[in-house]
Amino acid sequence: MNNREKKIIVGNWKMNPPTIMEARRIFGGAKRAASKIRRAEVVICPPFIFLSALAQSAKNSRNISLGVQNIFWETAGSYTGEISPTMVLSTGAKFTIIGHSERRILGETDNQVAKKAVLALKLGLRTIICIGENSRDEKGEYLNFLKNQIKNSLQGVSGKLLENLIIAYEPVWAIGGKEAMRPGQVEEMGIFIRKILADIYEQEAAMKLSILYGGSVDAKNAEAIVYQGNVQGLLIGRQSLEPESFKAILEVM
Ligand code: 13P
Repeated sequence: MNNREKKIIVGNWKMNPPTIMEARRIFGGAKRAASKIRRAEVVICPPFIFLSALAQSAKNSRNISLGVQNIFWETAGSYTGEISPTMVLSTGAKFTIIGHSERRILGETDNQVAKKAVLALKLGLRTIICIGENSRDEKGEYLNFLKNQIKNSLQGVSGKLLENLIIAYEPVWAIGGKEAMRPGQVEEMGIFIRKILADIYEQEAAMKLSILYGGSVDAKNAEAIVYQGNVQGLLIGRQSLEPESFKAILEVM
């Protein structure tokens, strides 16, 4: 099984945990769990401040990599408070999430997402672009919203840059809630998203892209979402901070 066929399980820690000690403990759990599984590669995206410490711990371990939750669209310069993808790569981290809905709510635009994605991909970071509708309506307007969001967030991402691109579909209404989307719906949305990608890129390239699902994934629904929902992996918030639950999710992959 090559890396491309493995499921990609990403833990997005968001602005958690409060201390480096806690971060080490949770990461240790993920590391142990990841070392025992074969069918998935595991990625942990902690807050930037914990990245270097955890990178030390990730160095000699199998099957687990680090990523970040955001990056800037320039490599260096006068941008107070920002972190560049070059800096991220220098820690040994390999992934970045871009355009998470919690950043979009704070004002991040499709255009900014696209600029970040182009630079990250050019530099060789594996780039997870998040997309997803805020809510649903009976007329299906959310499908148009999604189509525009995908097209605009990929502006300037040429076919040559697709190798390291991953799409994460996170319906905003399913994030941080009690229930995930049903696997059948996940599958439908995956087909819809791939169709839009095939409009932008060549059909074959669109078919190869990995699509992840995120939003209230837990140990009970993870297997069905991945295998019935036909996605290539998961983006997990709360349950990635609970070592036992995270382990249980990895075990059903
Ligand atoms: P939850 O798994 O906590 O719903 O969060 C999903 C998410 O936003 C991952 O990026």
